[in-house]
Amino acid sequence: MRNLSSHPPPPPPSCFYGYSTKSMVSCTLVSLVLVSLGVFALDSRGYGSWLSSYAPSLTVEARGSGGVLLASSTSFGSGSNISDEGLVEFQKEVNTSDHGSYFSLPPIGAPSPAPEPAAPASEESNISNTRRKRRKDTKLERLELGLARARAAIREAVQNSNRPALADKDYVPKGPAYRNSYAFHRSYLEMEKLLKVYVYEEGEPPIFHDGPCLSIYSTEGLFINDMDMENRLRTRDPDRAHVFFLPFSVVRMVQHIYQRDRRDMSPLRRTVLAYINDISGKYPYWNRSLGADHFMLSCHDWGPYASGGHSHLFFNSIRVLCNANMSEGFNPLKDVSLPEMNMRSAVVDVGGPSASGRPILAFFAGGNHGPVRPVLLKHWKDKDKDMQVHEYLPKGVSYVDLMRKSKFCLCPSGYEVASPRIMEAIYLECVPVTINDHYVLPLSDVLNWKAFSVQVSVEDIPNLKNILMSISPRQYIRMQRRVKIVQRHFMLNGPPKRFDLYHMLLHSIWLRRLNVRIHPQD
Ligand SMILES: *[C@@H]1O[C@H](CO)[C@@H](O)[C@H](O)[C@H]1NC(C)=O
Ligand SMILES: *[C@@H]1O[C@H](CO)[C@@H](O)[C@H](O)[C@H]1NC(C)=O
Ligand SMILES: *[C@@H]1O[C@H](CO)[C@@H](O)[C@H](O)[C@H]1NC(C)=O
Repeated sequence: MRNLSSHPPPPPPSCFYGYSTKSMVSCTLVSLVLVSLGVFALDSRGYGSWLSSYAPSLTVEARGSGGVLLASSTSFGSGSNISDEGLVEFQKEVNTSDHGSYFSLPPIGAPSPAPEPAAPASEESNISNTRRKRRKDTKLERLELGLARARAAIREAVQNSNRPALADKDYVPKGPAYRNSYAFHRSYLEMEKLLKVYVYEEGEPPIFHDGPCLSIYSTEGLFINDMDMENRLRTRDPDRAHVFFLPFSVVRMVQHIYQRDRRDMSPLRRTVLAYINDISGKYPYWNRSLGADHFMLSCHDWGPYASGGHSHLFFNSIRVLCNANMSEGFNPLKDVSLPEMNMRSAVVDVGGPSASGRPILAFFAGGNHGPVRPVLLKHWKDKDKDMQVHEYLPKGVSYVDLMRKSKFCLCPSGYEVASPRIMEAIYLECVPVTINDHYVLPLSDVLNWKAFSVQVSVEDIPNLKNILMSISPRQYIRMQRRVKIVQRHFMLNGPPKRFDLYHMLLHSIWLRRLNVRIHPQD
């Protein structure tokens, strides 16, 4: 188990967190034994499967104002399974709820608005501007050259993934829990060598540079805080940055500027728009890529809504979202799915018994809301003793204990697609069963979810017990072993450690950035 006191500097008090393991469980955090299971899963059908399906055609050319926008939503979307229908619907919903809308999303695939003609400059400033610009262009070219080399190294690793594992003092990814463990490792090391993130300093807490930590939306606050304290993968010189972070918290916007009495969400979008206007006026970076090398992060249900405050943020930028609903514009080729984690206290339970210590087949307890749970409760609540499906927990029973006593933990979508139960199940070493439609699972660019979880569509809820019973005891043992392997990638550490959730999210962002090439402005 982590010893918090041995890790200076400590995280801010609002984000202090640690893990507790039950005494009956050997300490899983440090004694994680790696088991090589032989076959390498290389599933190229999944979403955002960059490592297994990388092709030069995925590279999106981005050119900002003064040039041509090639990084439109259509070029990002081609070849992915995004439902255009849902996107249009979302836009309609967005526009109508936005009375007297100050801003509306452009139709899908529409060309970006023509750039404003440049103001006439005096000859002298023209010359010095040109010189200054040329220096910046050289810096951008150097950055792009570095990314091109990393791209080539990763592509080479994808093609030669049966080589001996790469050396690593901390951890060597291996086995079928990964889409391509060798290529992932290569890419991760390339990221550590190269990636530099610039965090815009503009904006004040509570809405900027801070976020909730003890909350159902904790991953939002944890990331924003960790990013603000980052040293290694961060630069204070924006000319050296590959990606730019917009450090706003949608949860905090909902707490502080959402007009609850009038149910008016529009201040969220206005804030996002004002922020982007501010940083795009002060610095050249947003305009140069039309947002394609910028990212935002939110775990709030309304994160996607807020990102609609600027169409380039919605369609071009990397949006790291818990609400990764493909029917609402989430694009796995450029957006990143953020897992949800309900932090109720500063200490989180980790570890659990092996299959023989888990007498219950499947477990769920939770409110009857959203589009999926009514179906689950209708079919399974109080229906079958192997299927412990509850709306409310029976008195005197602990949620964590039940998860530890169950082989499978059901993780249906709630109000929105993500479920905190996925991370809880992984922590308690219960095999997660995700039940949803249109959801892009977190880290699915690297992890092979089928190897350590069960995916069930809403339509298949009536067959749930049959689906779980058809998994043999031997297969179950393998799956649970892999849950323990991927556990490290969902860990929240203060300060962050290599291969933990914070770094895996940065890695997902890194992969999205590699898909974009930015040209100097003309
Ligand atoms: C500014 O420089 C461009 C070439 O870079 C030139 O075509 C243009 O005439 C110049 N404008 C002024 C006002 O000197
Ligand atoms: C970026 O573009 C916007 C809108 O076209 C413009 O108002 C702003 O001045 C530009 N920023 C810079 C730094 O040139
Ligand atoms: C995902 O988006 C679709 C389209 O808006 C919506 O019908 C569905 O309920 C959403 N799913 C969840 C779980 O929120």
